[in-house]
Amino acid sequence: MRTYLPVLAVFNAVLVQCSELVGIRELVQRRLPAHADSFTFTKINGDGDVYTVTDAPEKQGRVTVECTTPSACARGLYAYVLWNIRVLELNRRSPRYLTERGGLDIWWTGSRFENLPPSLPSVGQPLSGSAIVPYRYHFNTVTFGYTTAFWSFDKWELLLDWLALRGVNLPLAWVGYEHVLVDVYREAGLSESEISAFLSGPAFLPWNRFGNIQGSWGGPLPPQWIDDQFKLQKQILKRMVDLGMTPVLPSFTGFVPRALSNHYPNTSIVTGSQWAAFPTTLTNVSFLEPFDPLFVALQKSFISKQREAYGNISHIYTLDQYNENDPFSGDTAYLRNVTANTFASLRAADPDAIWLMQGWLFIAGSSFWTDERIEAYLGGVEGTDSMIILDLYSEALPQWNKTQNYYGKPWIWCELHDYGSTMGMEGNLPELTAGPITALNSPGSTMKGMGLTMEGQEGNEIVYDIVLDQAWSPTPLNLSSYVERWVSRRYQVADLPESAQSAWSILSSTVYSNRDSKTQATIKSVFEVAPALTNIVDMPGIEPTLVPYDTNTTILPSLQLLIRAASENKALLQIPEFQYDLVDVSRQFLANRFIDLYRNLVTTFNTSSADAVASDGQPILDILRDLDALLATNEHFLLNTWIDDARQWAHGNETYAAYLEYNARTQITLWGPNGEINDYASKQWAGLIEGYYLPRWEFFVEYMVEMKRSVTPYNATFVSQKMIDMGQAWDRQVSGKSSGVIGDSFEMAKKVLEKWA
Ligand SMILES: *[C@@H]1O[C@H](CO)[C@@H](O)[C@H](O)[C@H]1NC(C)=O
Ligand SMILES: *[C@@H]1O[C@H](CO)[C@@H](O)[C@H](O)[C@H]1NC(C)=O
Ligand SMILES: *[C@@H]1O[C@H](CO)[C@@H](O)[C@H](O)[C@H]1NC(C)=O
Ligand SMILES: *[C@@H]1O[C@H](CO)[C@@H](O)[C@H](O)[C@H]1NC(C)=O
Ligand SMILES: *[C@@H]1O[C@H](CO)[C@@H](O)[C@H](O)[C@H]1NC(C)=O
Ligand SMILES: *[C@@H]1O[C@H](CO)[C@@H](O)[C@H](O)[C@H]1NC(C)=O
Ligand SMILES: *[C@@H]1O[C@H](CO)[C@@H](O)[C@H](O)[C@H]1NC(C)=O
Ligand SMILES: *[C@@H]1O[C@H](CO)[C@@H](O)[C@H](O)[C@H]1NC(C)=O
Ligand SMILES: *[C@@H]1O[C@H](CO)[C@@H](O)[C@H](O)[C@H]1NC(C)=O
Ligand SMILES: *[C@@H]1O[C@H](CO)[C@@H](O)[C@H](O)[C@H]1NC(C)=O
Repeated sequence: MRTYLPVLAVFNAVLVQCSELVGIRELVQRRLPAHADSFTFTKINGDGDVYTVTDAPEKQGRVTVECTTPSACARGLYAYVLWNIRVLELNRRSPRYLTERGGLDIWWTGSRFENLPPSLPSVGQPLSGSAIVPYRYHFNTVTFGYTTAFWSFDKWELLLDWLALRGVNLPLAWVGYEHVLVDVYREAGLSESEISAFLSGPAFLPWNRFGNIQGSWGGPLPPQWIDDQFKLQKQILKRMVDLGMTPVLPSFTGFVPRALSNHYPNTSIVTGSQWAAFPTTLTNVSFLEPFDPLFVALQKSFISKQREAYGNISHIYTLDQYNENDPFSGDTAYLRNVTANTFASLRAADPDAIWLMQGWLFIAGSSFWTDERIEAYLGGVEGTDSMIILDLYSEALPQWNKTQNYYGKPWIWCELHDYGSTMGMEGNLPELTAGPITALNSPGSTMKGMGLTMEGQEGNEIVYDIVLDQAWSPTPLNLSSYVERWVSRRYQVADLPESAQSAWSILSSTVYSNRDSKTQATIKSVFEVAPALTNIVDMPGIEPTLVPYDTNTTILPSLQLLIRAASENKALLQIPEFQYDLVDVSRQFLANRFIDLYRNLVTTFNTSSADAVASDGQPILDILRDLDALLATNEHFLLNTWIDDARQWAHGNETYAAYLEYNARTQITLWGPNGEINDYASKQWAGLIEGYYLPRWEFFVEYMVEMKRSVTPYNATFVSQKMIDMGQAWDRQVSGKSSGVIGDSFEMAKKVLEKWA
């Protein structure tokens, strides 16, 4: 018996290794089915995330990927697929599939891995890489509202593969939270209606989870939603684990239904938060103080139920109590007490618990959060391995350097970039590459990760890609060669015209090298903002309308070059990523031209006649019609996609579908039922322009003409009230039959150029 033990131990170790990498093999089967047997993945010992890719010995066309972690194996596979760029350059194999310089990638618009040539190029000189930080992180709590709220598993599957291949190992996993939470409240004695009064609608759950809002407008959250999302979460978590990721799981935050205080009259519950302009019925959320024994009890209940549902898959928990909610006392002893007890509750429920926190509070509540308060608050959690802080907006408003590296706590360098999932082109590639390296190498650095915390994932894919690539390079990436290779694999045609590269060379050195500190975020277009006479152009901030570059020398020539590239090589028009970019750059061109037309209209209104106003109003309406027609040519720019994704969860129940549609429409327009954060999550989508923004501008132009004719002063209150009324009417609409893509992107792009350049 004794003699067999070591053998058995070795055998078990091998089994563990194999099962750990099963998910990576499944990734190959999913994305490269023709090559399912061509890759061998082997786990090796070593620190950190390291991979080596080599030709399999004596096996032509087979590749071995050795790795210290499953995440490193996925990254190694990715490196090989991107890298065979160079092999093809030498051998010019399969030019039918690939350019001499273009490898393959998987994009938000879809996977192109299936274009790998039937016979795998040899690796030659081994390829190796290692992550410069232990954590590669993805998601913001609100991405689960702005981007993935209505996603079904097929969309999740694409994104999770995108993340795994890029080496992400720490994704946030909020889906289905309410299922466990409702069970906890039931067990605590709350009735269904008491619980339901607390929960927000499907499009607004992230802010309910943050304790910013409570309740749902347009009807309560249906139990069916809670059950369906729970099932979806099980699929998502299984896949994350298979792909070698550690999901960051929810926990009990302390935000509770109002009625909890009736059931537990002696508990310590505070209220009084006021988020945005919401009425107190929808904000003023009840917060159970962490030092109350009931807090620990609910935390234990939550985490044990969650573990029962999903297994013992992670010890990292997301928990934010003061995101855009200031604490109820600024007393440092109180703040220390809150974190000490919150953390104690996590450890009581899971002895290995690590608390992950979004660092946004220190930016949003900067007048509250003095250095002493931050230090007390973080200091309540003992130890340096107990907490991870997301430095949420590192590219523009880093906090790590104001807080002595969060007073010694590990933190993650995060790119935020996008607020409300708005769609303008913008990026700061120099900062996204140099910034994290500087932070990592700074004296006393406790930086332990890099990641993406965009509020919404909308376009600008290059600025997200580059951060995850930078996480595998100890020196800042060379931007010109990075962009060139990125473009080559994005537009994988034989003989990629130089004009396509030139277009991106302009964009990457201007629009995507934006150093203007007033506009470090996606640029919002003026036509998405409720029409007004003042204060809508040139606004700085997190949703800037100030355009920090000259359109005539950036967007315009890039668009001309992309059109030229497509004329030179028609094969480009079959590439989904090229189609996307062609529409996106054309869209940005029209959006920026609109600003000139708007300025002109206002000047005319101030200085000229009613007829002149009527006349100068026409081009701004005309450009919106053209924009809608342009966007309608591409599936990624359709309002219908957002609405159809929402409605699908109703399984044919019309009442439920209408409720979901109301949620979907409201989030991207009024947000709150009465325009509480009006137009914050605006979009440039076909259907939304024609059906919503255009009527608003038509009203505005007509109103201006009328005021001129009747010599009546412009009434800004009246106009803004009218915009809310129009929003409420639009939000209540229910879609008829959904229309798909209409028209041809190339023809529309040419028309845009001819007409508006
Ligand atoms: C609440 O506290 C009061 C007085 O301190 C006590 O009389 C009462 O029994 C307590 N109620 C509960 C439910 O514990
Ligand atoms: C906030 O909520 C508490 C508890 O439900 C309530 O007593 C209080 O009146 C509310 N505040 C306002 C301003 O409505
Ligand atoms: C969960 O897994 C950890 C190792 O990651 C282990 O230490 C712990 O005992 C497990 N807990 C349960 C309840 O299985
Ligand atoms: C936290 O505050 C509560 C209420 O004031 C108090 O009872 C408790 O002792 C404090 N705990 C710590 C660890 O300071
Ligand atoms: C932190 O770094 C940012 C970006 O480099 C800079 O703007 C800011 O002034 C720094 N803050 C402090 C306190 O050094
Ligand atoms: C970046 O790479 C290009 C060639 O692709 C080279 O010409 C340039 O010198 C490099 N820049 C830096 C800063 O190394
Ligand atoms: C850009 O070009 C347009 C059209 O030719 C012109 O009206 C405008 O003044 C130019 N803008 C700048 C900043 O040069
Ligand atoms: C138009 O008039 C308004 C109100 O007097 C003023 O605030 C605004 O700056 C003027 N705009 C232009 C472009 O003249
Ligand atoms: C349809 O959905 C509504 C709203 O969720 C629900 O009240 C109703 O029971 C559902 N009807 C059926 C037949 O399931
Ligand atoms: C402006 O419009 C508001 C809302 O319709 C109205 O209450 C107000 O009286 C108007 N002001 C003037 C000066 O007409």
